[in-house]
Amino acid sequence: MTPLPRYHAARWDEPIVTELGQPGRRGAFFDGDPSADALIPAALARRNEPVLPALSEPEVFRHYLHLAQMTLGMQGVSLFGTCTMKYNAPVSEAIAWRPEMAETHPLQDASTLQGTLEFLHRFDLMLRELSGMDQFIFQPGGGADAAYTNCAVTRAWLAARGELGTRDEIITSIQAHPCNPATAATAGFKVITLTLEENGYPSMEQLKTAVSHRTAALMIGNPDDMGIYNPDIKEWVRIVHEAGGLCFYDHANFNGVMGKLRARELGFDACMYMLHKTFGAPKGGNGPSVGAYGCSAELAPFLPAPLVVRDGDEYSLDYDRPQSCGKIREYFGNAQQVMKAYAWVSAMGADGIHEASDLSVLANNYMDARLAEIPGLARSHADIAAHRMEMTRWSMEPLKRQTGVSVFDVQRRMTDFGIDAFWLSHEPWVVPEPFTPEAGEMWSKEEIDRWIDVLATVVDEAYNDPEKVRSAPHNQAIHQLDGSALNDPDRFATTMRRLKAAAATGLDGI
Ligand SMILES: Cc1ncc(COP(=O)(O)O)c(C=O)c1O
Repeated sequence: MTPLPRYHAARWDEPIVTELGQPGRRGAFFDGDPSADALIPAALARRNEPVLPALSEPEVFRHYLHLAQMTLGMQGVSLFGTCTMKYNAPVSEAIAWRPEMAETHPLQDASTLQGTLEFLHRFDLMLRELSGMDQFIFQPGGGADAAYTNCAVTRAWLAARGELGTRDEIITSIQAHPCNPATAATAGFKVITLTLEENGYPSMEQLKTAVSHRTAALMIGNPDDMGIYNPDIKEWVRIVHEAGGLCFYDHANFNGVMGKLRARELGFDACMYMLHKTFGAPKGGNGPSVGAYGCSAELAPFLPAPLVVRDGDEYSLDYDRPQSCGKIREYFGNAQQVMKAYAWVSAMGADGIHEASDLSVLANNYMDARLAEIPGLARSHADIAAHRMEMTRWSMEPLKRQTGVSVFDVQRRMTDFGIDAFWLSHEPWVVPEPFTPEAGEMWSKEEIDRWIDVLATVVDEAYNDPEKVRSAPHNQAIHQLDGSALNDPDRFATTMRRLKAAAATGLDGI
């Protein structure tokens, strides 16, 4: 075993930014400089001072440095399952921040955005190649947004066929990401949720019972978040199509199958990819995500406008889409994030994508073999002999039963070694005390081994000194937080205005 990392976070009594600074303090002064004033058209000049904290530039840098020093972030090893954490290369950032991108606006005339529209179109073609779909858009601001786009497109498709209201059910599985049932319900559909059998996915009989003349669509992921691939998926799609419904492939877990299968060839009508997962755009810190939504030519008329259109060497934005489901987000998507994903795919090439997929499955199965040697851990659906794909859901139920130490305790204690907290499971928990590590293709064997060694050490502590694990973290900037307010809007202020309102009424909020 390699020596475990020694780590302790910095601790600053750092006020929030609005409590810092002094009136009149600035990063740069333009006051009284007539040449600077002349640059600002009178109609755009401020009439009132902005309500912002007044800080000098070094104060701003110091503030964010202190916050960064108290945050574990991605500098530790992050095997945060279901999220396919990837290295975000600075070269992609450098490209995305070039003035040709960063200083343009999506409402500029398309003739001045030719470079941006060209790479958006090229990336659309790349995703068509990977999926077999006929058209992609990048408007959705993440995976859940792309799932919602699918529901909106389904609604518009039904309306065009005169079936809106009669086909009103969307089928999904208990193991699908909650955004699938949630967006279906938000879009006005009834949700039918299939449960899992011993083999880890719902039976074909359940599906056959669920489909009917009311079926609008199936929304499903494969492999699911337990790393289990449903080999009958093509037959599932056939059954739903036979009943007259559409099929949507949640491809959040694309890493283990990328370059190996195409959603359209399996029969799906639409799919989504997360550029902030599989395609190397930043995910850390809840960064600006993009859900790429692709569909068949039959569904393309219903996509949100605008579409990027190529005519010879000219690119334009097509807003004239009378059957469109409407807007999902503003403009045509976060072009800088798409640029980073485009850079990633271009750098990887087709061979690199195949290899990354193989490596991610290999790394996960190596990890699985090592985790199986640690007491107190159990693989979900232990009877399935087949290898898992790019991640596996595990359970700490035996550890909890034997020591009283929970999966949350282990998660917190691992951060004491500079390890980014692991992912547990989406709700509802199908597996007790779940955790879902995802090794991915980019972490080295030493890093994966270090992660596993830290977990083994913490499990050992749980058997020998459970209180040490239960009272963790000990090396973080702050120790245990009371998270009970997080789901209570009366006690958790998500905006400054709410915080001030709470303070005015004397509420003890976060
Ligand atoms: C299978 C699956 N689908 C959808 C999503 C939602 O993606 P996002 O977090 O980008 O909204 C996730 C996120 O973890 C996921 O794992």
